[in-house]
Amino acid sequence: MKIIVFIALFLIIYFLKCEAQKYNNNIHYKLCQNGGISININNCICPPSYSGDHCEIIDNNDICTNATYFSDSFGPLCCFSKLRDNINLSELELTMNINSNNKNKNNKSQENEIINELLKTYGPWEEKDVKLLDYLLISCSEKGENYLKYSDYFYGKEKQLQHLLDSSNCDDLDNPNPLAFVLILSSIDYETIDILFQILYRPYNYYVIHVDENSIINYEELELFFKKIEDSKKFNSTSTKKWNNYPSNIKIMKNRFKGAWGSISLVYLELSAYTILFDMVDERIKSTGESFETTQWSHVINLSGNDMPTIPLSNFSKILCKTKRKSYLDHCCIKDHFRFDRNWIQFNEKNQLIELFPNFMKEKGCGDGMGMSKYYDRKKVYGDGSQWKFLNVEYVKYLISDLKSLERLLTFKFSFIPDESFFQSSKIYFESNSGYHSFEIDTKRMTMFENNPEARDHTRYAVELKDIPNLHGLYFVRKVYLKEVKDAIIKEFNLLTEY
Ligand SMILES: *[C@@H]1O[C@H](CO)[C@@H](O)[C@H](O)[C@H]1NC(C)=O
Ligand SMILES: *[C@@H]1O[C@H](CO)[C@@H](O)[C@H](O)[C@H]1NC(C)=O
Ligand SMILES: *[C@@H]1O[C@H](CO)[C@@H](O)[C@H](O)[C@H]1NC(C)=O
Ligand SMILES: *[C@@H]1O[C@H](CO)[C@@H](O)[C@H](O)[C@H]1NC(C)=O
Ligand SMILES: *[C@@H]1O[C@H](CO)[C@@H](O)[C@H](O)[C@H]1NC(C)=O
Ligand SMILES: *[C@@H]1O[C@H](CO)[C@@H](O)[C@H](O)[C@H]1NC(C)=O
Repeated sequence: MKIIVFIALFLIIYFLKCEAQKYNNNIHYKLCQNGGISININNCICPPSYSGDHCEIIDNNDICTNATYFSDSFGPLCCFSKLRDNINLSELELTMNINSNNKNKNNKSQENEIINELLKTYGPWEEKDVKLLDYLLISCSEKGENYLKYSDYFYGKEKQLQHLLDSSNCDDLDNPNPLAFVLILSSIDYETIDILFQILYRPYNYYVIHVDENSIINYEELELFFKKIEDSKKFNSTSTKKWNNYPSNIKIMKNRFKGAWGSISLVYLELSAYTILFDMVDERIKSTGESFETTQWSHVINLSGNDMPTIPLSNFSKILCKTKRKSYLDHCCIKDHFRFDRNWIQFNEKNQLIELFPNFMKEKGCGDGMGMSKYYDRKKVYGDGSQWKFLNVEYVKYLISDLKSLERLLTFKFSFIPDESFFQSSKIYFESNSGYHSFEIDTKRMTMFENNPEARDHTRYAVELKDIPNLHGLYFVRKVYLKEVKDAIIKEFNLLTEY
């Protein structure tokens, strides 16, 4: 009898759980017409007042469907905006009461339900949203459910995570603390990349490259270029370093975003790059059998092509190694209200964001048109900051794997310059799995705002030779365009020296 109960229990548990091999990485949400999105085939979530298998049926009796800005239609946004207003959407309403600090495994079905609720609330949906979801989510095809792919990333690794974060031996040259870099480029300039990689490449770190989708790139040529860098730094027949047989540690993102300035796509592409950085750790563990705590990177650092370090990488790595429980994130005052109290949208993938004022929205029947300001409680200690940051692994994992963080992200879809506020406003609900984490607001990254502020070309804020002596004590400086200036910085700060 006992055995039968046991077998029955086993079978129940077995069939309730989605077996790992049945998870499908490529979930491929599909866009429907008019800003709808489908989870499963022929199952479109449509904007309010739109219906049909493909959201093709428009209820012309509802004025919101007729909204236009000059000749551009924005009916779906208008109707979604009206919905959010009608239900009095409040601060993180759909996830506020979820405790997703996954010391215990989350309730997966509930996770799936909430993801669907988010899709019903925060539309309309575009190509870039679908790309993001493909990076962040995983599906269990047999149940037709989708989950956050990384929510269980630390599950079963709690002790190793503690060990990784506690480890204080930052001088062990054979077991260096790996760092992760995201390089965000608007186009390919081999000379620029080469200079950065001469300074910042090490065979044990991790690198993800995102090139703007508007830029045509030759993957083979690019891969070859990076392979040469890897080979020149890695293979050394006279040494037996453990990284000699690591899988490639430079990945070029294949599914790319169009990173319009001021839009959410910049945040999307960065979060998507983080997911690849976690996948690369798994890949390295699988291929080498090394432990999680020696393989996992502790921080991720994002860079633009014309950023320059002003401290040798070995020194910088040591600083981060000694502060593994810290994220560095610029965070200050509340910036312009107009970033949040109206809707910012891109029409037809045109690069520029257009602001739709509350009065105009109201006139068109889109509710009160106050943008996200009604469901983003600015009275909390949110504040804004800059995009500059070095984020610790626990915080990065939270950003891509937590329901609250996902809802926070989606609330920012129609705001302005969310890359200066999303990361700061996600801090509040973050709980460290390992017990302790802190934020440092001084990131020691700088822009020369005094230099040529009126210029409209590349000399605006550009670093000049005369600035170099004043850069001591910083970690990075932004907008270094001239080779001559880069070379002088390399020399001044001994950037090619290993300490
Ligand atoms: C929306 O536009 C259509 C077509 O121009 C028109 O027939 C309809 O009356 C309009 N609906 C409302 C509610 O204004
Ligand atoms: C939203 O708030 C308004 C004004 O406070 C109220 O009249 C309305 O009933 C609320 N709607 C819902 C769905 O709670
Ligand atoms: C998980 O969530 C689903 C959907 O919300 C709910 O029906 C179920 O009771 C939950 N299971 C547990 C074990 O909490
Ligand atoms: C190869 O490794 C040896 C021993 O670690 C070192 O002395 C030598 O400089 C390395 N050569 C290159 C080209 O990195
Ligand atoms: C880091 O990523 C953000 C997107 O969140 C981007 O806007 C920003 O410019 C990047 N920072 C640097 C220094 O490249
Ligand atoms: C880097 O580390 C070396 C060795 O500890 C030290 O001599 C040097 O001053 C450091 N440089 C900076 C910029 O911190």
